[in-house]
Amino acid sequence: MDINEAKAKVAELHKELNHHNQLYYIEGTQAISDGEYDSLMNELKRIEELYPTLTSLDSPTQRVGGAPLTEFKQVNHPVRMLSIEDIHELKEEQIENTNENSEHNLIEWHKKTLNALPANQSTFTVEPKIDGVAVSIMYKNSKLQYAATRGDSETGDDITQNILTIKSIPTSLPNNAPHTFEIRGEVFMPNKAFEELNKARSEEGKTKFINPRNATAGTLKQLDPRVVSKRPIDVIFHSFGQINDLDLKTIEQYRKYLMELNLPVDKWFKIIQSSEQLRTAVLELDSDRHTFPYGTDGAVIKVNLIESHKSLGHTSKFPRWACAYKYRPEQGQTILKEVTIQVGRTGVLTPVAELEPIFISGTTVSRATLHNQDEIIRKDIRIGDTVVIEKSGEIIPAVIKVNLEKRPDNTVPFSLHSHINGKCPSCASTISKESGFTAWRCNNSKCPDQSIAKLKHFGGRRMLELEGLGISVAEKLVTSGLITHPLDLFELRSDELAKMELEPAKLNSGATSKPRKFGEKKAMKLIESIQKSKDLPLSRWLHALSIPNLGESASKECARTHRSFDEILNSSILELISERWEKENWIKNNPVKANKKNENSTSILARSSQSKEHKKRIQEINRILENYKISPELGGVVSTSLMTYLKSETGKASLNKLDRLNIHPSSANYAPIPSLEKAENLSLNETTWVITGTLSESRSHFKSIIEDNGGNVTGSISKKTNYLLAGQNPGSKLDKAEKLNVKVLSENELISLISTT
Ligand code: IVH
Repeated sequence: MDINEAKAKVAELHKELNHHNQLYYIEGTQAISDGEYDSLMNELKRIEELYPTLTSLDSPTQRVGGAPLTEFKQVNHPVRMLSIEDIHELKEEQIENTNENSEHNLIEWHKKTLNALPANQSTFTVEPKIDGVAVSIMYKNSKLQYAATRGDSETGDDITQNILTIKSIPTSLPNNAPHTFEIRGEVFMPNKAFEELNKARSEEGKTKFINPRNATAGTLKQLDPRVVSKRPIDVIFHSFGQINDLDLKTIEQYRKYLMELNLPVDKWFKIIQSSEQLRTAVLELDSDRHTFPYGTDGAVIKVNLIESHKSLGHTSKFPRWACAYKYRPEQGQTILKEVTIQVGRTGVLTPVAELEPIFISGTTVSRATLHNQDEIIRKDIRIGDTVVIEKSGEIIPAVIKVNLEKRPDNTVPFSLHSHINGKCPSCASTISKESGFTAWRCNNSKCPDQSIAKLKHFGGRRMLELEGLGISVAEKLVTSGLITHPLDLFELRSDELAKMELEPAKLNSGATSKPRKFGEKKAMKLIESIQKSKDLPLSRWLHALSIPNLGESASKECARTHRSFDEILNSSILELISERWEKENWIKNNPVKANKKNENSTSILARSSQSKEHKKRIQEINRILENYKISPELGGVVSTSLMTYLKSETGKASLNKLDRLNIHPSSANYAPIPSLEKAENLSLNETTWVITGTLSESRSHFKSIIEDNGGNVTGSISKKTNYLLAGQNPGSKLDKAEKLNVKVLSENELISLISTT
């Protein structure tokens, strides 16, 4: 085949494959088998390999991009990607108190917007609010230029390769399409595909995604488009950025135009002219939305006439011509069959409602959290009751209240303690409850369920990101005795791991798989990520250790104010926060007024003077801590709990073990006195930086560390660059830095540079 024949064949194959993509992805039909489609695609690939110049960006083969990227390029949005103001449906109690109907807030917004519009303008559009990830796609001269995430609304990641895996996005538009055509929409993972993906992930021992939006965001962040191409994501367009050479008058007209170009839009779309029609439309959408393939918790209402968008303008965050009407979470009633008790990673015993399965917000709910014993008593929830369940988007379903009218005769108040005979359901040790705390706990640090939960958390995505450490692997590691504490992971051998037999998995068909070995490849990967985790920053390690009451934000705040575990162990900051909390509690619990009749005045006076002293000390502590601007997330409960842990036998053992393993996590966000950091003599003053590769936190995180310390971050390396901050897979920037003699630093080196200069 000579080049001319190849050219003709390529054109023919483009046409044919695009036609089948159109049938399959837009019209939902199929004219040829998957095998026939694959052979057309393979033929095109073969010709493109022979004649690489014939491979264009709009070739069907380019939808699944080539090699993994080392980083996402940044794209400046020509028009800011704003978000929309949320208007909430009234809650039941608000309706009872105000006598308004559910849509009251929306109708008020509608009234206000109408008042700001010329008298003859009253047309609005109503469409579903898609729960996905925003994307902006730029076409120029009918060719797709790039696709980008929202990012910080002004600059986003260039995710073109990943977006090309979505078959309903054309790489070229008809020749008469506008010269500049920036369309915006939502990428989502259909609910069904999400459930299948999670099922497969849990069978493979990977962590499950929390919800479809999370799975979509995780997918779009992948640097390797081949991973993305295996994840079923899709897109719906709903708005636009910059458009030149197109006379667009209304939202309605824009939607029609998208349809003419075969670009996917939502089928559900209404035009309304009055508040009555608006109310009917949102009610209708509320009943229809449960049949949609994607998640939605609201409606987007827009002024139809685009000219008015300009005149209405926007606030610093939102345009005034649109709002997002959020439905209140969906509720349902079902029977509480039983209460089971789950042992969490810090030993907290959480009561879980086992329910008669009920279908809410697109999924079947058979379990819901009951939080703790106090909540159950407050709501007087009893086994056998008919209970009201609420489920909103990403939140775990919860039991809201009891339908007392349906209470059977023989129910008894629930007591967590007697329900499990005062013993931990996992290890049978005696449970306890600290005074002032609501949770019952199992205090046995070797409790199997606790160890499994700790281990799983340790390897979680926001902690140490250990690849392949899902629940079934964690379970097996603990029950087989290979691991009693998460830090034992660092002494695991890959051969031990490889031959570990996992429990048979439940398959989609309902059958169970054969017992499976973990296998060499997965073992290697897990060991590799265990080794890599040693360099992760202090905040991740703090969060990973399952220290009671210490969550992600508190861990970050703690790492902002301390450089290492050693500093935390000897921290006067934490001591002070804890002391302040104790004194505040004392004052709260010992009011100066007489606490019983005839209380003698000496004891009242004693309390009063003690209270005064405590208040004085609190003021003094506040003065000392003032410069640190510590966020409330690192409060008294957390500080006390963290210090108690580090001084406890378990805590000491963990710190010693970290030492023995030669793991010394250091802070990546150390900036204890923010006001001083911004002052003159900053450690990175007048230095220019470039960031490359995958780092433990986002680029913008490191950018702000550098900028807060006086440095300047630019996009590309030149003679003027002083430092390259390089993460994993640094790519071509590293080569260039080496050529130009630019100093290359790791994350840890950056942090020590800041703390030593
Ligand atoms: S219109 C000025 N329409 O929700 C923004 N947005 O919370 C115009 N979204 O940024 C956007 N469904 O990413 C629009 N039908 C819809 C939408 C929608 C979901 C997203 C969008 C937006 C965010 C605001």
